[in-house]
Amino acid sequence: MDSTKAIIDNLTTAVLLLDTDLRVLAMNPAAEELLDVSANQVLGTNAERLFPETALFAAALARAAASAAPFTEREMRLAVASQTVLVDCSVTPIGEGREVARLLVELVQVDRYRRITRDEQGVARSASVRALMRGLAHEIRNPLGGLRGAAQLLERELADDALKEYTQVIVHEADRLQNLLDRMLGPRGLPSKRSINIHEVTERVHALLSAEAPAGIRLSRDYDPSIPPVHADPELMIQATLNVARNAVQALDGNGALHLRTRVQRRFTIGQICHRLVVRIEVHDDGPGVLEELREHVFFPLITGRSDGTGLGLSIAQSLMHQHDGLIEFTSVPGATTFSLILPVEDDS
Ligand SMILES: Nc1ncnc2c1ncn2[C@@H]1O[C@H](COP(=O)(O)OP(=O)(O)OP(=O)(O)O)[C@@H](O)[C@H]1O
Ligand SMILES: [Mg+2]
Repeated sequence: MDSTKAIIDNLTTAVLLLDTDLRVLAMNPAAEELLDVSANQVLGTNAERLFPETALFAAALARAAASAAPFTEREMRLAVASQTVLVDCSVTPIGEGREVARLLVELVQVDRYRRITRDEQGVARSASVRALMRGLAHEIRNPLGGLRGAAQLLERELADDALKEYTQVIVHEADRLQNLLDRMLGPRGLPSKRSINIHEVTERVHALLSAEAPAGIRLSRDYDPSIPPVHADPELMIQATLNVARNAVQALDGNGALHLRTRVQRRFTIGQICHRLVVRIEVHDDGPGVLEELREHVFFPLITGRSDGTGLGLSIAQSLMHQHDGLIEFTSVPGATTFSLILPVEDDS
């Protein structure tokens, strides 16, 4: 491989080359990944097809071709497959003087929420918040057990049944708190990983959702049957996926569509490791979307937008994914929210 090609092929920036009629002449693997297409499918076709909901952008491309003036468009929304990604886009006309022969298009994904979950600091920060929470939960557990036991002893000594109502309140509330603490402590022990087909996980989640989701929720699924086996604890993966899917059901509030999708993706960076291949389990819903003010914090424990929520579901799911060297990320606009559970495929699995 010549060195220029080696550079282009390994850039993390998506690069496309267009002719002046906006036909795609070349694209690098990062562009295939970002736009969710294979170069073979789109070479020679018009770039407008790649940017279907971005008519203004196509017009700007045409202007750049005509005027030979480069331009940069910040935070442009691109509709890709079932999700929307935010990109900064630079277009450089290439040619002699005003004679433009080609356009070089660079797309850099700037979606903030993706960066926050993916970057090392974000991962470390949410891990330390979880450690703090677990420590606190652990400290509360023992005295709580003592309180509950004492209330039961007291109840036995009480002659007046009317007074037992009070001790029962203590026992009942202690049990409620105990449940919360158990969830805050999270799963105990190490995951027991084995080589599994990821669809074992999605099918179980689909079956559980079919049983529990209200009738107004339309469930559908779309699996990539060629996904290689992954090394994972199926029970933990089911729990993580279910936590995410239940949120979608709750967000739909009795009415809407929930779609489960599986895909593989090449070259995906988590923390500082660039994985050659990852599997994505995507949970898509057409509900109202994640509240703007929660977006940067949804993976933190105790952050909730629901009156009866504890705000633990996503933080637990995220930490289960960390135990698998994976992560959860999401994109959300009203009418289209996708949470993706991403799991690296190890070479030997
Ligand atoms: N698909 C979604 N659409 C809209 N908002 C969502 C979606 N998923 C999560 N959220 C928001 O993120 C918040 C945090 O979710 P999380 O699962 O951590 O906690 P919770 O669902 O509120 O409580 P718990 O899961 O502990 O019962 C939710 O309260 C909701 O506001
Ligand atoms: Mg939840």
